[in-house]
Amino acid sequence: MSKLLFLLLWFFVLNTVQCVLKPCQLRKYPDGYVCVCNETYCDTMDVEKPERFGDFILVSSTKSGKRFDVSKGRFQPKPLEPNVIRVKRFPDLIGIKRNVTQDMKSWLTSITLTVDQDKQYQKIIGFGGAFTGSVSHLFDLMPESLRHALYRNYYSPDEGIAYSMMRIPIGGCDFDLRPWAYNEQPIDDQKLSNFTKLDARDLRRNEQINDLKKVAQIDDIKLIGTAWSSPKWMKTNNQWSGRNALKPEYYQTWADYHLRFLSLMAAENMTLWGLSTGNEPLNGEIGWFFIHFMSLGWLPENQGKWIGENLGPNLNNSEFRDIKLFAGDDQRYTFPWWFDRLNRLSPKAMDYVSGLAVHWYWDRLISPFMLDQTYNKYPDKMMLNTESCIGDKPFEVHGPVLGSWSRAERYALGIIQDLQHHVAGWIDWNLILNESGGPTYINNTVDAAVILNSTTKNEIYKQPIFYVLGHFSKFIPTGSVRIEANLNGFRASNVKTVAFLCPDNTITIILYNRSDKFRIIDFTDDLRGSYEIRLDPRSIASLTYA
Ligand SMILES: *[C@@H]1O[C@H](CO)[C@@H](O)[C@H](O)[C@H]1NC(C)=O
Ligand SMILES: *[C@@H]1O[C@H](CO)[C@@H](O)[C@H](O)[C@H]1NC(C)=O
Ligand SMILES: *[C@@H]1O[C@H](CO)[C@@H](O)[C@H](O)[C@H]1NC(C)=O
Ligand SMILES: *[C@@H]1O[C@H](CO)[C@@H](O)[C@H](O)[C@H]1NC(C)=O
Ligand SMILES: *[C@@H]1O[C@H](CO)[C@@H](O)[C@H](O)[C@H]1NC(C)=O
Ligand SMILES: *[C@@H]1O[C@H](CO)[C@@H](O)[C@H](O)[C@H]1NC(C)=O
Ligand SMILES: *[C@@H]1O[C@H](CO)[C@@H](O)[C@H](O)[C@H]1NC(C)=O
Ligand SMILES: *[C@@H]1O[C@H](CO)[C@@H](O)[C@H](O)[C@H]1NC(C)=O
Ligand SMILES: *[C@@H]1O[C@H](CO)[C@@H](O)[C@H](O)[C@H]1NC(C)=O
Repeated sequence: MSKLLFLLLWFFVLNTVQCVLKPCQLRKYPDGYVCVCNETYCDTMDVEKPERFGDFILVSSTKSGKRFDVSKGRFQPKPLEPNVIRVKRFPDLIGIKRNVTQDMKSWLTSITLTVDQDKQYQKIIGFGGAFTGSVSHLFDLMPESLRHALYRNYYSPDEGIAYSMMRIPIGGCDFDLRPWAYNEQPIDDQKLSNFTKLDARDLRRNEQINDLKKVAQIDDIKLIGTAWSSPKWMKTNNQWSGRNALKPEYYQTWADYHLRFLSLMAAENMTLWGLSTGNEPLNGEIGWFFIHFMSLGWLPENQGKWIGENLGPNLNNSEFRDIKLFAGDDQRYTFPWWFDRLNRLSPKAMDYVSGLAVHWYWDRLISPFMLDQTYNKYPDKMMLNTESCIGDKPFEVHGPVLGSWSRAERYALGIIQDLQHHVAGWIDWNLILNESGGPTYINNTVDAAVILNSTTKNEIYKQPIFYVLGHFSKFIPTGSVRIEANLNGFRASNVKTVAFLCPDNTITIILYNRSDKFRIIDFTDDLRGSYEIRLDPRSIASLTYA
């Protein structure tokens, strides 16, 4: 009862608008707006935190070109009244003069948001992107000042969107200048006698990552390593791609290979936080017909045997026993049956696994119920999205569509859906690609959050995807806990939401409006009361309040 009284005491009055320190330099392309950064200018995403109880900060980005547009306000005491009457009584508060017809309309379109911080779900691990060979190559083509600006844009907790995770390939992947692995020569070398140091490409990437950490002033990045393929000689078809599997006589060698990589990286002060059991294992089993990049095929029972008898015990008996081992690393349609079958030949396999990694590529066809089912079966394993990009399907534009808001909206929907279904972190694919969506050695060009002009090399284009990712990564710090948030009303289906209790006890609510109309949201928080939020058309907003 007292909760309810409290709830009635507050509502929102004023919106004082403030700007981020360096706003986005918008440029229009046929499909929408990008933000341009060059050697001397790059926008920043610095947003103050709400300080006093009842203060809030609303940050929004829209199809029409707003990027991290900040407004501040405060809850104020008010008596409870139905929405329609309130609008009549305080017509100026939201800056719209209304008559009775409009009030009716507002009633029909109004949406109620309720947040209950006592209903808690998963704890957030973090957000990030992938540092592939192509990314490393493109960073080296850029002038230092531009590269540094981008490092800060992604990883700085203050100026940037506060990424805290990074996926790194072990050897090559599909976004590299060519396929490669350690110890390609000599062949049939069970001792991995030629894998005694890291490759020059690793050393370069480590330098870049150290530089990034220094420039973005971030001490700790959660690195998660993933191998795409073993050297060809360990595989049944002796090829990078095609239908293949690991030869059973090399199961132990393939585990040693991973341990060797971890030790060599640790010797360079690049200790990994996580390790995957391998990228998209079904590519080498069923996907090989249309997937032509380096892949190692696995059936779950064989991979389970490898994890349960080789990789798992080896890790557990090493200095890397605390590393988080992620199984799966494949599409949502593998959840949860893949994990059920891992234990078939080795009943201990799943005991070594800390997390389940999912990719989003067929999410539009596969219900998120698969994630709930997986969570119900494996409640102690964290779930993480480890790869996502657009432009991979035959019916899509391959490569970047500069300024596309609808591509960014697919990220918004995908991330919100995953977060609503127990996924605890989200890692985007390439941090940067060129304007053709490469480089890649197999023509599988795709889009990315940031695109380099590889003609001049002195401009980058930050896509709407970058800002949509930022609406999550910046406002949902590691350690935040998802809380219950519900939208009700006639038009609620046009708005999606997900809410978090952050470690500093502020609350963050992400609101994504896919409608072409403005929407007024009546917002009720259990402790603080209620107020109205005006959401722009085709927009995403992050609301944080103390
Ligand atoms: C870099 O961008 C800023 C802001 O848009 C602009 O004023 C400046 O002229 C640009 N510099 C170059 C070399 O294009
Ligand atoms: C009410 O608002 C509508 C839409 O703005 C307008 O067309 C109409 O003339 C208004 N009616 C009155 C009585 O003001
Ligand atoms: C070891 O690998 C390197 C390439 O990384 C290769 O040039 C060299 O020939 C290999 N050594 C042997 C003995 O095969
Ligand atoms: C790793 O870090 C330690 C302690 O900070 C330092 O002494 C050592 O030189 C570093 N090694 C490398 C390869 O950077
Ligand atoms: C890992 O090793 C420890 C002993 O160091 C043991 O207690 C534990 O059961 C092992 N973990 C698994 C999954 O076997
Ligand atoms: C850009 O990507 C395309 C497509 O993969 C590739 O052909 C081209 O070489 C790349 N250019 C640069 C400078 O990376
Ligand atoms: C990639 O595409 C280009 C142009 O479409 C073509 O010339 C080239 O042969 C393709 N390369 C591969 C490896 O498919
Ligand atoms: C890259 O820069 C060149 C030179 O300014 C320009 O002609 C080209 O349109 C730019 N590319 C893109 C994708 O904007
Ligand atoms: C969503 O955007 C539409 C316009 O596209 C707008 O009318 C509506 O008020 C917005 N809804 C919210 C909740 O912001």
